[in-house]
Amino acid sequence: MLSRLSSSLVRSFKVRSSRYILRFRFLSTQQSSDKDINDTLYSDIKTFLAQRYPTNPFDENVVVDKSINISPWTMQSYHNFYQKYHKEWDNSTAVLLEIAGGPCIYPHISAAPYVAEIYHTDYVKACCDEVLLWKSKNPNAYDWSLYFKQVVEKLEGQTSPDAVTKREDWLRSILNVGLCDVKADVVVPAIKKAPVDIVSSSFCLEVCQESLEEYVYLIKKLYDLTVPKGFFISQTTLEVSWYKVGQIKHPNPCPVSLEDVKWAYRKAGYNILYSDFWDRPMELRNVGSDSVGFSFIVAQKP
Ligand SMILES: C[S@@+](CC[C@H](N)C(=O)[O-])C[C@H]1O[C@@H](n2cnc3c(N)ncnc32)[C@H](O)[C@@H]1O
Repeated sequence: MLSRLSSSLVRSFKVRSSRYILRFRFLSTQQSSDKDINDTLYSDIKTFLAQRYPTNPFDENVVVDKSINISPWTMQSYHNFYQKYHKEWDNSTAVLLEIAGGPCIYPHISAAPYVAEIYHTDYVKACCDEVLLWKSKNPNAYDWSLYFKQVVEKLEGQTSPDAVTKREDWLRSILNVGLCDVKADVVVPAIKKAPVDIVSSSFCLEVCQESLEEYVYLIKKLYDLTVPKGFFISQTTLEVSWYKVGQIKHPNPCPVSLEDVKWAYRKAGYNILYSDFWDRPMELRNVGSDSVGFSFIVAQKP
């Protein structure tokens, strides 16, 4: 008991050397409160999805919340990445690991033709369950069909009438779903094939940390899950000090700027291949969150 307590103390002892602050934290207490917060935030998955990922964000005639309608830009960004870099790994064996993927399968649509397996993971079981609903073609699953249409027909230019269905079926056949915790010693307990060719993560690390040092520490954990020459692709909410999931408003203790993100990736060991930025309309920067925009970054392990 005593040794468990002391090892928990040792693990959770952190030094913020740059600001000379010593911080002690009981890991188990922190983990359970993180769990409660995230279970509460993502208790209503369908509301989160409808708010962040409207089922038809691509048609200019459909009214969607313009302050967070990043889907056209996001889908283009993933498409560009896979078109440009898919020859750099063996498509017949490659593994993609999505960390904190939430209930969302959109990042996998462009990836599917170029990897052999996808591990979609999240901290909240309800998020994983939502992805499993989609995988099993459950009628209650969230409808991503227009995201598939956008990628397969518009971005890839495929014209065959069953191209979209084929992509959906292929993605279902290579998709594995499980739990992860970016703060735990073992981030993805169930994955057998780490390190992997591509790690992908969006909108999590920047709201999971309380200092830039902790941010680097979390990114380094993902770096350790990547093979040499492997890729890290990520989207980040920039300079966000509060955000809402459904009606729940949540503070973010350590907002990060685009420069902070790039600095942290380099500090963790990655080389940055390119970064893109989606500027949030100024007049809408207080809707849903106070973020100034979003970045899409492609990084590579040396
Ligand atoms: C804003 S959502 C982003 C979901 C998705 N990646 C997307 O693109 O919309 C943040 C996700 O981070 C997950 N999360 C929070 N804490 C985590 C942790 N310690 N480890 C892994 N995931 C975590 C939440 O459960 C949630 O699904």
